Amino acid sequence: MRILSGIQPSGKLHIGNYFGMMRPALELAQKGEAFYFIADYHALTSISNPEELRANVVDVALDFLACGLDPNRTVFYRQSDVPQVTELTWILANVTPLPMLENAHSYKDKIAQGLKPNTGLFTYPVLMAADILIVQGERVPVGRDQKQHVEMTRDIAGAFNRQFGEVFTIPEPDIRPEVATLTGIDGRKMSKSYNNTIEIFGDEKVARKRVMSVVTDSQPVEAPKTDLDKNIPLQLYKAVATPEKAQELQAKLAAGGFGYGDAKKELLATLTDYFAPFRKKREELVKNLDYVHETLRKGAERANVVASETMQRVRQAVGLR
Ligand code: TRP
Repeated sequence: MRILSGIQPSGKLHIGNYFGMMRPALELAQKGEAFYFIADYHALTSISNPEELRANVVDVALDFLACGLDPNRTVFYRQSDVPQVTELTWILANVTPLPMLENAHSYKDKIAQGLKPNTGLFTYPVLMAADILIVQGERVPVGRDQKQHVEMTRDIAGAFNRQFGEVFTIPEPDIRPEVATLTGIDGRKMSKSYNNTIEIFGDEKVARKRVMSVVTDSQPVEAPKTDLDKNIPLQLYKAVATPEKAQELQAKLAAGGFGYGDAKKELLATLTDYFAPFRKKREELVKNLDYVHETLRKGAERANVVASETMQRVRQAVGLR
């Protein structure tokens, strides 16, 4: 089974990204032949500062390698190192109906948020289709917000195949369940745009402050705590602790005489332990950026082999050769 997914290089990794996206992607990669790439062409639709783009690409590469992506098993590359995807984007644009792009939620949302309606943003789904189809991806793990894009890819691939013969495998989206979404320190969904995240590789003092400021209700220390299913420190703790430990903390809160401050201290300690090996690995990688760049280059070499094969068939099919 060939698995493909793209990751936007969009800033600092937080625990919501880790449990919601990265860990499931790393687990899925064990079940087949995974192609994971850093979507730097896509990033041009939202990042206009070259320094920021360069830095973010290196950050994502470091994050994934530090969190356990095995570059020998997974083909890990930078999208712009496989420039054939832009050629395929052009070819696919000719079988992509305009109304399909006009109806894209993500385009409408981005315009509503104030992004400029340029043609890069508009044709974003065609580029995404090219990413998937160029490696003949069969399963595409994505968040719910990307479901429509994968459906468009299926439609584009179908239209191409009907017109030019069976070239493309039709991919299946693999939608991550909403339950994997972690709550942020203010009680809303953890998201960079809400500024309610806990970073994994950031400053430890900042992380401590953020953990200690997780919102709770105001039941006093002595009280046997009720409504624990809505308790955010406990919810976050459940993500990083063993089920036994989580049960223990819940029991302590329910018994009374154990305050939210105490719970947050346990949360902080467990979070720190959980991510300590990743932090250590990342520190080592930062000292060896040549290795990181070399890893991406090797990944691109492997992706290029597959991409070139697909492009040969595509060019033949449409009459460019
Ligand atoms: N659009 C995706 C996102 O914002 C990233 C992405 C780009 C992607 N190309 C892809 C995801 C191909 C899956 C397959 O998250």
